[in-house]
Amino acid sequence: MNNHELTLKKLDITDLKNLIDLQDKIISDLRTDEQHFILHRTASDFLNALSSSSTYVFGLYDGDKLVSQSILSLPQDNEERELPEFLSDRKNSEIAIYKAVLVDPEYRGRGLMKRMLQIREDTAVLNGRKIAITQIAADNPASWINALQYGMQVTKVGLDPIDNAEVIYLQKRLDGKIEPRLNTQKTFPMLLGKDIHHQVPILFNKMQKLSADGWVATSLTKEKNGYRLIWNPIEETAQTIRLTPLYNDIRAAKSL
Ligand SMILES: CC(C)(COP(=O)(O)OP(=O)(O)OC[C@H]1O[C@@H](n2cnc3c(N)ncnc32)[C@H](O)[C@@H]1OP(=O)(O)O)[C@@H](O)C(=O)NCCC(=O)NCCS
Repeated sequence: MNNHELTLKKLDITDLKNLIDLQDKIISDLRTDEQHFILHRTASDFLNALSSSSTYVFGLYDGDKLVSQSILSLPQDNEERELPEFLSDRKNSEIAIYKAVLVDPEYRGRGLMKRMLQIREDTAVLNGRKIAITQIAADNPASWINALQYGMQVTKVGLDPIDNAEVIYLQKRLDGKIEPRLNTQKTFPMLLGKDIHHQVPILFNKMQKLSADGWVATSLTKEKNGYRLIWNPIEETAQTIRLTPLYNDIRAAKSL
């Protein structure tokens, strides 16, 4: 089956059972030590998302089978948003939050996660959002590599304040411009290796240190011996003199 034969739908209450069935299938396919990759949403969590005016739930259908789902949150200024610890200086109305994307195991590796990133980006841009953000478990490289390939950048690495899980925060400007404060002349290429899963504890420590030192993972290259993650520093002057809200979190992390 070809991807463009899949039908995109903004899901509603009639899709509730399919959402739960797909989530159950994906959870039962994850090993015990991978169960934290996604939030295990209850029927009422899904109902809230489906009925909220600031949340979009998207699905891709193969005929009448839901094969992928994703959630986009477009928080309003007057409400509490998720990930308040990330880009806390930005107004809610500038931000789009990408939440868990799930792809049926039988449909993986053919770009459905990237298609879900694109759908959410298009919707965020249409709604005037300036920046997309997400948080991904550090030991879920399949997901964060994908987000990096899609153009998101790692600007914060640390522990989730709710459950202390090791997480990676990514963001992407939605105006298509490159962050001017990055020093692209100076790079640190980090080889992720072929067996990224196995390397995650070491990689996480390195990434946390680089991020706390003001470096941003800006791109990814695929080489014979695995992926290479490219880091660039934020200009020293930008860090000390003209720090803008975009990177205030990095400075906050450095002062901890
Ligand atoms: C993560 C997930 C959504 C990826 O979906 P997908 O549709 O297979 O991803 P895509 O086809 O768009 O992208 C494939 C890319 O993902 C990356 N990827 C996929 N599996 C990978 C793995 N096991 N290790 C490293 N990278 C991997 C690769 O970069 C691959 O790119 P390539 O074509 O250059 O090899 C899917 O595996 C899934 O549903 N996992 C369980 C739920 C989950 O973890 N969701 C994310 C929560 S944040």
